Amino acid sequence: MAEAADLVIFGASGDLARRKILPSLGRLVSRDGVSVRVIGAGRSQKSTADFREMVKEASTNQRLSATAEWVQLDYAEPSTFAPLKEMLTGSPCVIFYLATPPETFSEIVSCLAVGELSTKADASRRVVVEKPLGHDLASAHKLNRQLAEAFEEEQIFRIDHYLAKDTVQNVMALRFSNSLFEPVWNRTLIETILITVAEEEGIGKRAGYYDETGAVRDIIQNHVLQLLALITMEPPTTFDAEYVRRAKRAALRAMSPIDPATAVRGQYEGYLEEEGVAADSRRETYAAMRVSIDNWRWDGVPIFVRTGKALTRRVTEVVIRLRDAPTLRIGGRRQRGIPTLIVIRIQPDEGISIRIGAKRPGTRFEMVPAGMRLDYARLTKAALPDAYENVLSEVLAGGHSAFPGAEEIELSWEIVDPLVRSWEAEGHPESYPVGSWGPHAADDLVAAGGGGRWIVSGDEPGTA
Ligand code: BG6
Repeated sequence: MAEAADLVIFGASGDLARRKILPSLGRLVSRDGVSVRVIGAGRSQKSTADFREMVKEASTNQRLSATAEWVQLDYAEPSTFAPLKEMLTGSPCVIFYLATPPETFSEIVSCLAVGELSTKADASRRVVVEKPLGHDLASAHKLNRQLAEAFEEEQIFRIDHYLAKDTVQNVMALRFSNSLFEPVWNRTLIETILITVAEEEGIGKRAGYYDETGAVRDIIQNHVLQLLALITMEPPTTFDAEYVRRAKRAALRAMSPIDPATAVRGQYEGYLEEEGVAADSRRETYAAMRVSIDNWRWDGVPIFVRTGKALTRRVTEVVIRLRDAPTLRIGGRRQRGIPTLIVIRIQPDEGISIRIGAKRPGTRFEMVPAGMRLDYARLTKAALPDAYENVLSEVLAGGHSAFPGAEEIELSWEIVDPLVRSWEAEGHPESYPVGSWGPHAADDLVAAGGGGRWIVSGDEPGTA
């Protein structure tokens, strides 16, 4: 069990704290009995009683709310951090969680260092930052430099909540704890890899953030490339965080910058009418692209990824299509070829399914698609933990496996930067209907690039 800790949440009255951090912390405290004191820190004036009430509501945990504290401070003024420093004196473990807009990161981090609330290389003082981690390569590099001035790399925890999803972590278990998969996991036997991160919801009330960001920066640069790195990396020496990070870095380094000629963008119909969106916004709410990996394992394999808002339904999955087996004739008749698919469903209905060809029961020899499925939720009687529960549990324990390192963030920006720049110079993206699978051009992209067609399990015979 992790030791007692103080969790200082900057921006604690914001949406992220209410919707994600506090509810997950509440569950974690109830489940694992970890001892955490929450300290809300922000610019607004608030009484401790009010903050405790907020913590109680959001976390539904009496113990958390009973000890919660609120400190008011000015991010630009180190002297206002003094009461916080006093509160933390003697604490065995302090986690500074920056749940604030990115433009405040550098001021807060510098106040922590100047006010001596944290000391570089003191592993009991940790900092957590949320995406967006930069807006492009240059700004990501600057942010990494600023963090590195005040903290050593092992004190820094950069959240990519996808990496903390159980099913994403399970990719490593699937690949490297089963002798069945690794021998086929290469250009010789894999025909194509397709990743879909589809959301049914539009942007809701997040125009302020999203209209500046778009689908590539919001999902591809971080969640999708991290997932793809886990799918395509070489086996790490061990499952320890540093070796996994090394393997992911190598995978990301092998990915070429995205060629805008092999990418498609779209904007859902009605996006321009969303509250807060600029009337002439050209921001993409959909992005599909080919990713080329130039190494021995993946050279020439068509890999396509797509993401979008306001699509048919919420689904995140990886579909790996194996090369077709030769089909034998029977009575001069060619058998129906059924490509083998390995489908890793990240969410919802978490699981792994394998679609194979089987003989249709009956007197004739005829092939049908058939599926085998691991239902991930059935592996436990407990509810699957939310990604933020995993994130918090790992920060408290000081582990890094659910967090990307500084270099991974920059490598990912290198991959998407040319695409983002090119799209920002172009006109309005193609519109796509709400509830569709996005622009048709994305289907042509995959077909022309040798990827066949987009596949989502459930719509595909033999997949659940
Ligand atoms: C966030 C994005 O990182 O991930 C959101 O900013 C997106 O736009 C969300 O909706 C998706 O997360 P999940 O866990 O619901 O797939």
